[in-house]
Amino acid sequence: MALSIGVPAETVPGERRVALVPDVVARVVKQGLQVLVEAGAGDAAAYTDAEYEAQGARVVPREAVFEADVIAKVQPPTEAEIALLKPGQVLVGFLHPLDAPAVAEKLAAQGVTALSMELVPRISRAQKMDALSAMSAVGGYKAVLIAANALPRFFPLLTTAAGTIRPASVLVLGAGVAGLQAIATARRLGARVSAYDIREAVREEVQSLGGTFVELPLEIEDMQDAGGYARALEAEKARRQTELLVPFIARADVVISTALIPGRRAPTLITEEAVQGMAPGSVIVDMAAANGGNCVLTEPDRQVVRHRVQIFGPTNLPAEMPYHASQMYARTISAMILEFVRDGAFQPDFEDDIFAGACVTHGGAVVHERVKSLLAA
Ligand code: NAI
Repeated sequence: MALSIGVPAETVPGERRVALVPDVVARVVKQGLQVLVEAGAGDAAAYTDAEYEAQGARVVPREAVFEADVIAKVQPPTEAEIALLKPGQVLVGFLHPLDAPAVAEKLAAQGVTALSMELVPRISRAQKMDALSAMSAVGGYKAVLIAANALPRFFPLLTTAAGTIRPASVLVLGAGVAGLQAIATARRLGARVSAYDIREAVREEVQSLGGTFVELPLEIEDMQDAGGYARALEAEKARRQTELLVPFIARADVVISTALIPGRRAPTLITEEAVQGMAPGSVIVDMAAANGGNCVLTEPDRQVVRHRVQIFGPTNLPAEMPYHASQMYARTISAMILEFVRDGAFQPDFEDDIFAGACVTHGGAVVHERVKSLLAA
């Protein structure tokens, strides 16, 4: 029997993505695998059962999906889903084991080999499996659209018979994957864009997208580590940074904030004083809401108005653009699964950096060191 991949419908409220899309199913089937898709799994992302069938998937009821050798998911499994998993099965998805490590214990108890997409190391060989970056790009784009929609002003410069309208000013805090996509999107809509990041290395990227790089008179040495990630600022510099950002925030009609150092609470960059300085009707979209927020007034998954400024704290932007978010996710998760399919079977390989980095549970135990230490604490 061919190795099978099961694709259940996502059940977390608001989640509209699906782990595999029809054209990716076709590629997987070509590799000799079988794909079982739960009836209706792609509906919310605009993929029909008929399209999945046309690309070679079998559309089956939910129970049958959980009979597959490999289960491909977007969100971490629910209690009900964990109960359906069997020893030796492979589960791949965003499992959030660093935020909610308890899931790892439960998966280990089920005897499942679980791979977490957010733990895929950011090394060049793993680029095609970098689901986090793919989702950040979707998020950066969508964050700008939310801001443009809520802002009581135009984004572009307009010259009309009724007069000239000056373009909106957008400030992007954190110019990583999400931030760069936000810059590009805001530029395409005609806004004036500036961006700030503690990593000097991104200056040229910001400029090549038509943004202005914000310079703060902070003495920050090389803030980039060997893995290309930012290092955390020491407390005094962080306080100074927040203070220096106030006038830049005040001048912006829109702030899109994306600053994060993986595994830490999001740094505070937007204080209440900074919000007070913004013009009425201005918009902040705080993409770091799920990690504590870059703005002190952010409330996760809510839109609040504070000091006449609209503050959005979306935590699942990719689910709001489910067609392409699913397509991009499907490419990364299928690459991950296929990487470890050898001779028609899924073969765990702890010698492989990607497998060892992403594997959370195997053989009835939690095998990921960071997750283990979180659980011990
Ligand atoms: P990334 O690591 O590529 O970029 C983060 C950037 O923040 C880096 O360039 C880093 O140098 C910068 N940074 C860190 N500390 C800073 C500080 N104190 N001041 C200025 N810049 C600082 O991460 P990515 O993939 O772009 O994700 C960004 C954020 O967006 C994360 O918090 C991620 O969880 C979130 N996200 C949220 C989504 C949502 O639906 N709300 C969807 C996707 C991502």
